Amino acid sequence: MVIAVLLGSVRSERMGERAAKWVSAELRKRGHEVVLVDAAVLQLPLLDKMWKEIKGSADPEYAELREKLRPLAELYARVDGYCIVSAEYNHSVPPGLTNLIDYFLEEYGFRPSAIVCYSAGAYGGVRAAMQLRAMLCEVGMPSIPSLQAIPKIGSALTEDGVALVPALERAGKFFDEFEWYMRAMAVERAKGVPY
Ligand SMILES: Cc1cc2nc3c(=O)[nH]c(=O)nc-3n(C[C@H](O)[C@H](O)[C@H](O)COP(=O)(O)O)c2cc1C
Repeated sequence: MVIAVLLGSVRSERMGERAAKWVSAELRKRGHEVVLVDAAVLQLPLLDKMWKEIKGSADPEYAELREKLRPLAELYARVDGYCIVSAEYNHSVPPGLTNLIDYFLEEYGFRPSAIVCYSAGAYGGVRAAMQLRAMLCEVGMPSIPSLQAIPKIGSALTEDGVALVPALERAGKFFDEFEWYMRAMAVERAKGVPY
């Protein structure tokens, strides 16, 4: 399976990279092709125009943005699933992640998403994950039932994304479920999509 891991945390001292490294390594261990889409590397401006509004235009004002977004469009066309790595800001979805997601829409369709949420505190970002679920459904990548929450991320993962807590070493059910949904939806996508 081909999986895009979306990381929307852009703070200079962000913890999200740890979660993205951990989940990417776990998915690669299971034989998947994993591509990290990192909002901090992409440096996308706050949304002005979506990909669909600029992809066919030659407007020089959007030339740089087009070249940043084109590889994402090509990636999203071939992925089987999205792994969304989300912090919790004010009990909600971090704006950098929303901004990253908002650039595309139809490209996400008919593929499952799996949420890896985290926070500095004991709840592991689950309040953000509940709101994220509504957004992911709306953009066409409904989330699988299981969540992978990472409480106290600073002590749960090393900077290199190595798990320090047994709960993360027992995340098999989450990945098994994600793979099931990716396989199932790939079969139906191959037969055609309703729109
Ligand atoms: C603006 C902001 C709001 C936050 N709000 C919450 C919150 O509502 N609940 C929580 O558990 N942690 C909250 N935190 C702490 C984050 O869980 C912690 O800083 C985490 O590392 C953020 O992810 P990041 O480092 O990838 O940006 C907040 C952090 C920031 C910067």
